[in-house]
Amino acid sequence: MESILKNRPALEHEIYQVAEVAGYLWQKGWAERNGGNITVNITEHVDDQIRTLPAISEPMAIGVTLPHLKGCYFYCKGTQKRMRDLARCPMDNGSIIRITEDCAHYEIIADSVVKPTSELPAHLSVHNYLLAKGSPYRASLHTHPIELVAMSHSKTFLEKDVATRLLWSMIPETKAFCPRGLGIIPYMLPGSVDLADATLKELDDYDVVMWEKHGVFAVDTDIMSAFDQVDVLNKSAQIYIASKSMGFEPDGMSDEQMAEMTRAFNLPK
Ligand code: 13P
Ligand code: ZN
Repeated sequence: MESILKNRPALEHEIYQVAEVAGYLWQKGWAERNGGNITVNITEHVDDQIRTLPAISEPMAIGVTLPHLKGCYFYCKGTQKRMRDLARCPMDNGSIIRITEDCAHYEIIADSVVKPTSELPAHLSVHNYLLAKGSPYRASLHTHPIELVAMSHSKTFLEKDVATRLLWSMIPETKAFCPRGLGIIPYMLPGSVDLADATLKELDDYDVVMWEKHGVFAVDTDIMSAFDQVDVLNKSAQIYIASKSMGFEPDGMSDEQMAEMTRAFNLPK
């Protein structure tokens, strides 16, 4: 069967951006084995022909009912699929799904029957929430960035906004390019609806949230931008750890320097 991407350059571009990010995740060491997952709301690229495509799977339960996703379409990384494979062959390691009329199930429509990520409840709940509040964000990323996950093993950094302030103060660009900081979610079972619910709440205030001792979950307009937010945060974590490895506690930018930055870049306080 022909790929759904054929003769659809805008959709193809979107999926190849996912593949590019998947390659970066592997290169960075953030995507061991099947680690991490990506979903993108591709509904804006869906034409009448796609709408009439028959399902190639049975309807499967999402686990939650998500009214704003009725008739929406998503590209989803496949569960147990590797980012390093997805980077080369995105349509063999992920699939396109349609949310059914009852808003509680999905069906796979292309290219082949690749079951979506086990974190689908979190991803779809987040997309539902983003649409409900009229957000332009269409992409969500879960990944296992080494240094940020390491920090989540210390209670100190799990206090509200302690990690955010530290990471922002390591290098000026971090606040500029991750202006809402890093939210914190206490450890919960991967793939659970509880984790999905907690993620939703935290995304009210942050674009990137830490799943304690597991990884981060990030949202943005597109997948490259979601990746960039995690990348700048993890760079700060690396600078912090490098300083500690050299045997000193980094000073961090002063409050005055942070305030100057915030004004100059017109960032939220
Ligand atoms: P999947 O292979 O199901 O996407 O799971 C990877 C993961 O990181 C779970 O948290
Ligand atoms: Zn994970």
